[in-house]
Parts: sequence; structure tokens; C-alpha cells
Amino acid sequence: MQEAIILVGGKGTRLRPLTNHTPKPLLSVAGSSFIRHQIAKLMDAGVEHVVFATSYLAALFEEEFKNFSPDLTLSYAVEQVPLGTGGAIRNAGRLLRGDDPDAPVLILNGDILSGVDLRGILDAHRSRDADVTLHLTRVPDPRAFGLVPTDDDGRVLSFLEKPKTPEECVTDQVNAGCYVFRRSVLDAIPADREVSVEQETFPRLVAGGSRVHGHTTEEYWRDLGTPLAFVHGSADLVTGTATSPLVGSPAQALIHPSAVVDPTALVTGGSTIGPGAEIGPHVVIDRSIIGGDVRVAEGARIHESVVDHDSTIGGGSLLREVVVGCHAHIGADNELPAQLRLACGIRIPAQGVRVSGTAAACATVH
Ligand code: GDD
Ligand code: MG
Repeated sequence: MQEAIILVGGKGTRLRPLTNHTPKPLLSVAGSSFIRHQIAKLMDAGVEHVVFATSYLAALFEEEFKNFSPDLTLSYAVEQVPLGTGGAIRNAGRLLRGDDPDAPVLILNGDILSGVDLRGILDAHRSRDADVTLHLTRVPDPRAFGLVPTDDDGRVLSFLEKPKTPEECVTDQVNAGCYVFRRSVLDAIPADREVSVEQETFPRLVAGGSRVHGHTTEEYWRDLGTPLAFVHGSADLVTGTATSPLVGSPAQALIHPSAVVDPTALVTGGSTIGPGAEIGPHVVIDRSIIGGDVRVAEGARIHESVVDHDSTIGGGSLLREVVVGCHAHIGADNELPAQLRLACGIRIPAQGVRVSGTAAACATVH
């Protein structure tokens, strides 16, 4: 039986406030929670048992997968205190069903959207008789990732997590957050303390001469851990740039059947509109995620942004690369610039925030 572990215990701090109440893997991406896309992909690759390594808001994962599917067994390894990525893998390993010490265990970070062929990684692992196989990808700027140089044969030479100086950036080849571990190697990770698989386990295995191999591919790959990456990942799934067994034919928008979109509105770039949302006349929504029961009034423009459920966006407002928490109210004619995060429940009056000048009368006494 092919088994897998998914690491889903992180707090998703870079996606706050969306992650204040919802763990990152349970956020909605192209109409389904992100973790459901990953689970569908694992099932397509023949995985029959998945262990979730949970910690932050752990109970919500069990709720999400209540009565899920007879074809997949799900287990939950809950860390009362986060054990780090290596500790989480070791802890989740206790719930694996198989007892073959050489069995290949698939391990995924819970925030990676990738077109990689999982069976291909498993095949590469087996054919090389590796202890660990790491999926690697190339990125333009490797500083936010684990650097993994390999020799001509694909053998991993070193592992450097989040390089700090330009001299340390010796390659653009990075850890793509998907591994195959030989079961006995997984079981040898220390069980009595927090362990980082990136900072401790991989460097130790490489230095100790273990058979650690890289499997470098060119397919679509994105870590959805930041707001912009998150909206782009969702849009890529809708437009067909990225694929998931859960998303149908490529489209410019994914609009829930219960949403009401005015015929003069333009919803494009792979945007999603959640259940019960109301999109007014002449609104433009581009490459954005609009949550359930959100109302967007006439003439508002929303680009590369996320508006969480039950919020309202006033007429004529402009949002660019903004994250709006749930139950927020943005009045009319606001102009919200990139990088803004608006807390859940916040209220911004009409013309309260603008990059260009405001025509509203001054409300203070001079
Ligand atoms: N159970 C558990 N416990 N899970 C954890 C813990 C923990 O203590 N800490 C992190 N995780 C989970 C997160 O939920 C996420 O799914 C995954 O581990 C990776 O954590 P991130 O916080 O997303 O790490 P990152 O994106 O900065 O870096 C990682 O991913 C890169 C690829 O996107 C590293 O693995 C890098 O080496 C890699 O290049
Ligand atoms: Mg990440």
C-alpha cells in the first residue's frame, strides 16, 4: 500500500488574516480547499493512506475530511506543540500502516501547487535505490527556499535552507517540498525534540554519505505561502496553466452557481467568485479570489487580491494586491495599494484610504 504524509501544521503567518481562522491548506483555491487538490493528486498517483501532520487549528482538518472517500484512509498525527518539519515527519510516521523498513513514503509540504508526476518521483527513488529522493525545481530567486546543488548524476551535494548572502546562492535549484523517504531513514529522525528536516535532517544525511538524490523537473511549480502566490496559483488552476483533477476545462473565471454577477461586470484572469457573492454593474475582477457572500458594488475594481467571506467592497473602490479579511467593510471610492492586509471585521469609510487625492470634505474642525 502506498502511503503519504502531508505537513500541514504551519501557522501560515504570511497569509494572515486569511489564516487567522483557517489553516493555509484549507483556504479555498479554484473552488476547493487547497488540500483537496493535493489529496486528489495523491489518489491519482495510487496513494491509499495519508497521514496529516497537523498542529495549528488541527481539528479543522478532521472536519474537512469527515466521510471523505472509501478509497482513501486518512489519519491525523496532531502535535500539541509544533515539532518542526522533521519532527512532524517522524511523529506522523508512527501512524503509517506498513512495516517494511524499505518502503518508500511520500511526503508533501501542504502548500505546494505542482504539476510534477508523483509516480515519476517514486519510480526514480526505486530505480536509484535511494534513501531519500527530493523533488527539485528551478526558480529565478532562490532565497526563500532550500538550495540543493546536485552532481551530474543527480546526487545531492549539500542542502542550505534560505541562503542569506549572494555567495551562498550557488544554484537556482531548490527543494520543491516533496520527498520520498525510505521508511527506516524516516524512523531514525529524533523523536524527543523539535527537528527541522531542512536545517538538520537533510544536511546530516548528505554529510553522513546517505543516498540522497534530487529529481529535477521543469513542470509548473509554486509555493502558495504568500498572498500574491496564492492568488496566482488559484488563477493558474482556473485558466489551465496549472492542473488539478478537481478543476474542469480552462476558463477565465470560476463563478459559483449561487453567485450573482451583473452582466456588465468583467470577471477575468482566472478569478473565482464564491457562493452567494453579489458582483455589481461595471465591476472588474481580475486574477482575484472573492469569498462567499461578498458584495462588490458598482464600478469597483479588484486586481490580484483576496476578499474573504462576508465582506463588502464599496462602489468605485480600487484594490490591487490586497488581502481583505472576512466581515470587513470597505466604503466607496477607496484606493487600496499593494501589500495592504485588512483585518477581519475592519470598517473603512468612503474615501478613507486613497493613493491619489480625496474629494471628500474634511471631517475635522480646524
Ligand atoms: N506538522 C507540522 N509541524 N507542519 C509544519 C511545521 C511543524 O512544526 N512547520 C511547518 N510545517 C509545514 C507547513 O504547514 C508547510 O506545509 C510546510 O511544513 C513547509 O512550511 P513553510 O512554512 O511553508 O516553509 P517554506 O515555504 O518557508 O519553506 C519550505 O518549502 C520550500 C518550498 O516551497 C522548505 O521546505 C524549503 O526548503 C522549500 O524550498
Ligand atoms: Mg511554503
